[in-house]
Amino acid sequence: MRTVFGVITLLVVAAVVVAFAASPTADEGEKLYLSRCMSCHQVDGLGIAGVFPPLVKTDWVTGDEGRLIRLVLDGMMGEVKVDGVIYSGAMPPWKSFLSDDEVAALLTYIREAWGNDASAVTAQQVARVREASADRSTPWSAEELMQPSNQGIPGSLEALFARPDTSSHR
Ligand code: HEC
Repeated sequence: MRTVFGVITLLVVAAVVVAFAASPTADEGEKLYLSRCMSCHQVDGLGIAGVFPPLVKTDWVTGDEGRLIRLVLDGMMGEVKVDGVIYSGAMPPWKSFLSDDEVAALLTYIREAWGNDASAVTAQQVARVREASADRSTPWSAEELMQPSNQGIPGSLEALFARPDTSSHR
């Protein structure tokens, strides 16, 4: 009897360890990407030149996370130059479809996928940006997102200091 309980205990402990060790966020981020973004930006993140811009090694994706969160929550419209190609399309807003946790998982995924190497995005960062841009009802223009006031995480320490314009026209 003792051995049976011992084995059961071991199995339970093992299951818990496996559940925590696996990274549900990364999986969830990939799933969300495939269902929400892939149709335009493609499975390899390379987009379609001239129609849908790439997400691989662009400053929009790997640069300031506050700007990336704004862009995904409210969308983007008008001219933008990415990797030397000019786009003039419409990126849909996601704020009414995705929770803070989902935006965080999704953005963490695209910042680490396809050779991108940028820091993770947290649900708390998304919540702060969502709150600060709650009144916004139209997509951003690239020009607006270039402004330091539309970058960074509101309420974070860095936001207290003037930020250099880190965006680039590649
Ligand atoms: C209906 C097509 C479409 C969908 C779906 C879409 N995008 Fe976009 N996205 C665009 C277009 C078009 C632009 C360029 C907007 C412009 O021309 O101003 C863009 C621009 C971007 C940019 C900035 C430019 C770049 O290439 O780095 C990012 C980042 C981005 N999208 C991320 C996402 C993410 C994340 C999702 C999923 C939540 C997503 N997009 C879903 C069409 C789409």
